[in-house]
Amino acid sequence: MSMPIAFYICLTLILFIFSGTDGYFYHRLAQCRFSSKDLHGIELIDSYVFNKAEYVRFNSTVGRYVGYTEYGVKNAKAWNSDAGILGQEQAELERVCKTGAAIDYSNILDKTVEPHVRLSSVTPPSGRHPAMLMCSAYDFYPKPIRVTWLRDGREVKSDVTSTEELANGDWYYQIHSHLEYTPKSGEKISCMVEHISLTEPMMYHWDPSLPEAERNKIAIGASGLVLGTILALAGLIYYKKKSSGVL
Ligand SMILES: *[C@@H]1O[C@H](CO)[C@@H](O)[C@H](O)[C@H]1NC(C)=O
Repeated sequence: MSMPIAFYICLTLILFIFSGTDGYFYHRLAQCRFSSKDLHGIELIDSYVFNKAEYVRFNSTVGRYVGYTEYGVKNAKAWNSDAGILGQEQAELERVCKTGAAIDYSNILDKTVEPHVRLSSVTPPSGRHPAMLMCSAYDFYPKPIRVTWLRDGREVKSDVTSTEELANGDWYYQIHSHLEYTPKSGEKISCMVEHISLTEPMMYHWDPSLPEAERNKIAIGASGLVLGTILALAGLIYYKKKSSGVL
């Protein structure tokens, strides 16, 4: 559930050189790589790339440049013999990476956002059981979460399938867990969600009486009926009063 994560701060310098229809593409990419709040092992990788091929790179853990082409090796040799250049790169680790990572933790990485959970009945795949429930958790952060099923208070492990935590692409995640089952009268089925944003596990109990969509339709229909009746009565009273000459 808790996998090591790496975050990158990328600073990119891009230079295009066009000559006729052929183009050349030079770019320089600086990455800050870190995976824990104590910034243990934080690393600056400064890459020089020509036409998609990285030819020389500074790795702050190594403290030197490494060349990958003849030209890159030549540059690495020259820059590695210059204490000023090496010192500048190492200073960037402090100035850019450590400062930036601390800001990332306080602004994003330390934040937690509660999931919105929906429990619904879905069509089971033709299989051993006639019914299937889906417990969906939406828009939570960070990624680790635990979604489990309880039947009369006891955890069910069989006939349960779940997606991975799916990235929405906007920092939030969603997950969907399915339980295939054969309904028994009087039993209580619940979906339990555990997440760092919650002080205690959240329980969602399945109400087999009517699916939520049906209940909503009935609620909307009933509201419409009440509103319609009130308007009709008001209209009738108005009409009566008017025709009897009171107004
Ligand atoms: C940087 O160098 C260290 C030490 O050799 C290595 O463990 C690490 O993987 C390197 N980082 C990258 C991104 O290549």
